[in-house]
Amino acid sequence: MKHAIITGSSRGIGLALTKVLIRLKDFKIIGSSTSGNHPIQANSFECYPLNLHDANSIKTFVDNVQHLKIDYLFNNAEILLDSSDDPKIDIQKLEHTFSVNLYGTIQLTELLIPHLTENAHIINISSGWGSFSEKNFDAFNPHYKMSKAALNMYTKLLSERLKSTGIRVSAVDPGWVKTDMGGANADRNSEEVANELMDLMDKSETGKFWHQGSSREW
Ligand SMILES: NC(=O)c1ccc[n+]([C@@H]2O[C@H](COP(=O)([O-])OP(=O)(O)OC[C@H]3O[C@@H](n4cnc5c(N)ncnc54)[C@H](OP(=O)(O)O)[C@@H]3O)[C@@H](O)[C@H]2O)c1
Repeated sequence: MKHAIITGSSRGIGLALTKVLIRLKDFKIIGSSTSGNHPIQANSFECYPLNLHDANSIKTFVDNVQHLKIDYLFNNAEILLDSSDDPKIDIQKLEHTFSVNLYGTIQLTELLIPHLTENAHIINISSGWGSFSEKNFDAFNPHYKMSKAALNMYTKLLSERLKSTGIRVSAVDPGWVKTDMGGANADRNSEEVANELMDLMDKSETGKFWHQGSSREW
């Protein structure tokens, strides 16, 4: 039996990925939502509440799963608080965004590392907006972009740190995806991204930034 954790599995990309993984045999999926409620009910699926803005909620989530050996950790839950027409920094928004997208995600990951299997794979859902090599770079959405850039650096650092253990660490740029976060005009759907994430699970490389099945520049 393999175990996969998907944070933020109640909507969007996380929900699509949950639906894909639930079809696999000998797999148990642990999802999360901020309330603990979830649209999916299945024998091979459990959902626990998780608020990455709250250190106690993160600890309680880890307590709930610590009896398991985890094969895959998808750090998918994140927030986008930016107003798309205002490039100025708002310190409160910056702190809140970093608290969920970076500190909470890192705290959860660090607490789960002792519960990972030898060949586990940590997959951080990042963004092209966290990249330094984006061609269409602009000044908008600064809080979110900085949080994803830092998440990319954490991915690289952790992949080096864990290299000798066999645990792989990857980041993914899913593109612009039709979800509550991406909006209705996005050019990709969450099912396509879910299938790409599933293909990535058993790739042997570590420390790479993936987009549509290929590694891309950071
Ligand atoms: N959509 C895009 O175009 C796009 C582009 C690039 C990267 N991404 C990345 O892809 C990932 C998934 O995005 P999405 O578009 O699927 O997002 P989404 O539809 O907005 O779903 C967000 C998920 O995160 C959970 N969440 C929100 N705040 C949380 C918190 N404080 N603590 C824990 N969980 C929280 C939500 O739970 P509740 O349902 O309980 O609120 C929900 O399950 C994110 O990392 C995002 O940055 C998305």
